[in-house]
Parts: sequence; C-alpha cells; structure tokens
Amino acid sequence: MKETKKPKHYVKDSKVHGRGVFAAKNIKKGKKIIEYTGEIISWDEADDRFDDKGDHSHTMFFSIEGNRVIDGNVNGSEARFINHSCAPNCEAVEKKGRVFIYSLKKIKKDEELFYDYMLIYEGKITKKVLKKYACFCGSKKCRGTQLDLSDK
Ligand SMILES: C[S@@+](CC[C@H](N)C(=O)[O-])C[C@H]1O[C@@H](n2cnc3c(N)ncnc32)[C@H](O)[C@@H]1O
Ligand SMILES: [Zn+2]
Repeated sequence: MKETKKPKHYVKDSKVHGRGVFAAKNIKKGKKIIEYTGEIISWDEADDRFDDKGDHSHTMFFSIEGNRVIDGNVNGSEARFINHSCAPNCEAVEKKGRVFIYSLKKIKKDEELFYDYMLIYEGKITKKVLKKYACFCGSKKCRGTQLDLSDK
C-alpha cells in the first residue's frame, strides 16, 4: 500500500502579513519542508507581470539562476505564502533551478515559517523604496526592509 506522508505545513492568516505558512508538526533543523514551485519565466516577462502600483509591494516571484523567475501565482505551491523575516527559521536553497525551503533550526508545531527574502532592488534605494518594501517581521534583528542591503 502506498504511504502518504502528512504535510509538514499549513496555510493560515499571519500576524506579519496576509496569509502565512505554519508548521503542522515539530520540525527538526535541516529538514526539507516544501518546494517553491510555479511557472518559470524570464525577468522580462516578470517585469511585465509585476504590478508595481500601490504603496506596499506584493510579489510571488522567486528569482533563480539564468535570469529567470518562478512565478508562484501560476500553479504555485503553498510555499508562495511563506512570509519574510529578518530573523528567519528557514532558508531557501536553489538546486539546479529548483528552490526548496529548509528549516534552519528546530521549529515547533504551529510556529510560522519564514525565510529572508533578501530582495535585490536595481536602482537607488530611496525612503520611498524602503517604505514600499518595509518589513513587519517584528523581530529584534529587523532591518526594516525585505531588501538585501548588504552591499549598499
Ligand atoms: C510571497 S508573498 C507572501 C504571502 C503573503 N503574506 C500573502 O498573503 O499573499 C510575499 C509578499 O508578502 C508580503 N510580506 C511578506 N513578508 C513580509 C514582511 N515581513 N513584512 C511586510 N510584508 C511582507 C509582501 O507584500 C511580499 O511581497
Ligand atoms: Zn524584518
């Protein structure tokens, strides 16, 4: 008989933003939790699809090697609902053009899952840009933005 594995995660409303993904059971460090899937498109196509209006940016894109993007809006897995944190308990690992979410530490049942989006913004990082990509993770280490400012 085929054994079906119980999922390690579920989706529900998050205190950080919209919906989020939560641990359905205790998860050990270093475990693969879910693959970030969706339609693989070029950055040019992603730019056309990206709605940049509004004060707060909202994206389901995941940038991968080869100048490509996974668009989680199209046939995407529930990984597209994982929110960003500046003190994450998960990381996104790219392997041959596929992206998997792994636990970075022990995660308790019903804890929300987060990875650090480290979004790259091409262009000048102004106050307006920082506001648009503001982070509401609430962690002590919060850098205030979902953007990667490490080389700024
Ligand atoms: C892949 S979606 C995550 C799911 C989202 N919560 C939803 O319900 O659609 C990514 C978007 O969620 C929002 N988001 C995720 N983490 C955030 C955070 N720490 N602070 C502020 N907004 C966040 C941003 O708008 C971001 O572009
Ligand atoms: Zn933060």
